[in-house]
Amino acid sequence: MERLLIYGSYGYTGRLIVREAVSRGESPAIAGRDGKQVSEQAHENDLEGRTFSLEADMASHLAEFDAVLNCAGPFVETAEPLVEACLETGTDYLDITGEFRVFDRIRRQDDRAREKGITLLPGVGFDVVASDCLAAFLSERLPSADELAIGVAGMDSRRGIPAPGDVSRGTAKTLFSGSATTNVIRKSGSLVRVPIGFRSRKIDFGDGPEHAVTIPLGDVVTAAQTTGIENVEVYAAMPSWTDPAMSALGSAAWLLESRPVQTLAEPAIDALIHGPGESTLETGETVVWGEVRNGERTVRGRIRTPNPYALTAKSAVEAARRVLEGTVPSGAQTPANAFGSEFVLECSDSERELLESPAVVDVES
Ligand SMILES: NC(=O)c1ccc[n+]([C@@H]2O[C@H](COP(=O)([O-])OP(=O)(O)OC[C@H]3O[C@@H](n4cnc5c(N)ncnc54)[C@H](OP(=O)(O)O)[C@@H]3O)[C@@H](O)[C@H]2O)c1
Repeated sequence: MERLLIYGSYGYTGRLIVREAVSRGESPAIAGRDGKQVSEQAHENDLEGRTFSLEADMASHLAEFDAVLNCAGPFVETAEPLVEACLETGTDYLDITGEFRVFDRIRRQDDRAREKGITLLPGVGFDVVASDCLAAFLSERLPSADELAIGVAGMDSRRGIPAPGDVSRGTAKTLFSGSATTNVIRKSGSLVRVPIGFRSRKIDFGDGPEHAVTIPLGDVVTAAQTTGIENVEVYAAMPSWTDPAMSALGSAAWLLESRPVQTLAEPAIDALIHGPGESTLETGETVVWGEVRNGERTVRGRIRTPNPYALTAKSAVEAARRVLEGTVPSGAQTPANAFGSEFVLECSDSERELLESPAVVDVES
C-alpha cells in the first residue's frame, strides 16, 4: 500500500485537503511543526500524525512514505528543505505553490530527481493546475505559438482586489513575502523583472472586455515548461483605478519585502484574515483566460472553475493519488505534463471553452 504524508496539514488549505482525502476514503499521514495541532487533527480524522519542523532530520521522517504533499506556505521557505529530504529518501514531492521562484528552483532539480527516480510536482492547487491545463490545451491547437498570455479573474473579479474573506492567511503571507511585489514576465526564455502593473490590456473573461494588469504568477515558469513557449505574461483583472496604487506598490516593493515590514504585517494578517467560509467555498468561482499567438494566428480559451481553494483540495488530492499510482515520469514536472490538458476538467467541476480567434490583438499599453 503506497503511503502519502501531508505536511502543513493543519493550515487552512491543508485542512481542506485532508478533509477531501478522508471523504474519498483515503488515510494519509499528516504532519506539521505544532504537535498539539497535529495530534488534535489526527484524532479528529482518525489519522496517523507526525510532528517535525523543517530544521529537523527530515529524511528520517520521510523515509517510510512514498510521496509527500507540502501544504506549508510560503513555499519559498518550505519547499527547498522538503525537496532536499525527498531527493535523499527517494520520496515523490508535490506542493500547492503558485510562487514562480519556487517553480524555478524546483525545475533546476530535474536532473537530480531523474537520477533518483522521483517525481517533483509543484503547483497542484488551483495555481497552476487551471492555467497550466489551459496553456497546454491552447498550445495543442497552435503548436507553432511563440507567445502565451494567461489572465485570471479571481475571487470576485469585478471588484479586482481580493477582500479579506476571499483569501487565507497563508495566501496573504505569501503575497507579502515578495510573491506579489516582485513582478516578472518570461521573455525569449528568460525571467525578466518588470515593475508591478508593467503592462495592461483588455481581456474578456466572459462579460466583455475588462482591464487587466500583469502579475507575477508561476506560469512564467510552468507554462513555458509545459508548452515550450518562451514568451509568457500573466494578467489579473483589476479595476483601472488601481493603476496608480499598483505603481506605488511597485515603487515600495523593496520596503514591503523587507523583514521588519513583514514581521509587522504577520500579526495583522493573523488577526484579520481567516480564509473563505463554507458558503464562499461552495459558490465562489474564478475564470482563467488564455491566448497563444504565432504572429499570424491567435487562439484563445477560457476555463470557469469553482472557488480556487475548493478546486485546490480536489486537484491536490487527485494529483497525489495519481503520483502514488506510479504513472507520472520522474523529474521536475508540471501538472499538465504529468496528467494532460484535461486534468482540470477531470478533477473539478470546471468548464472550458475555445473562443473565436481574432487575427488582431487589442493590447492596451
Ligand atoms: N496554488 C494554489 O492555488 C493555492 C491554494 C491555496 C493555498 N495556497 C498556498 O498554500 C500556502 C498555505 O496556505 P494556507 O491557506 O493553508 O495558509 P495557513 O492557514 O497560514 O497555513 C500554513 C501552514 O503552513 C505551516 N507553515 C508555514 N511556514 C512553515 C514553516 N516554515 N515550517 C513548517 N510549517 C510551516 C503552518 O504551520 P504553523 O501554523 O505552525 O506556522 C500552517 O500549517 C500559501 O502559500 C498559499 O498561498 C496555494
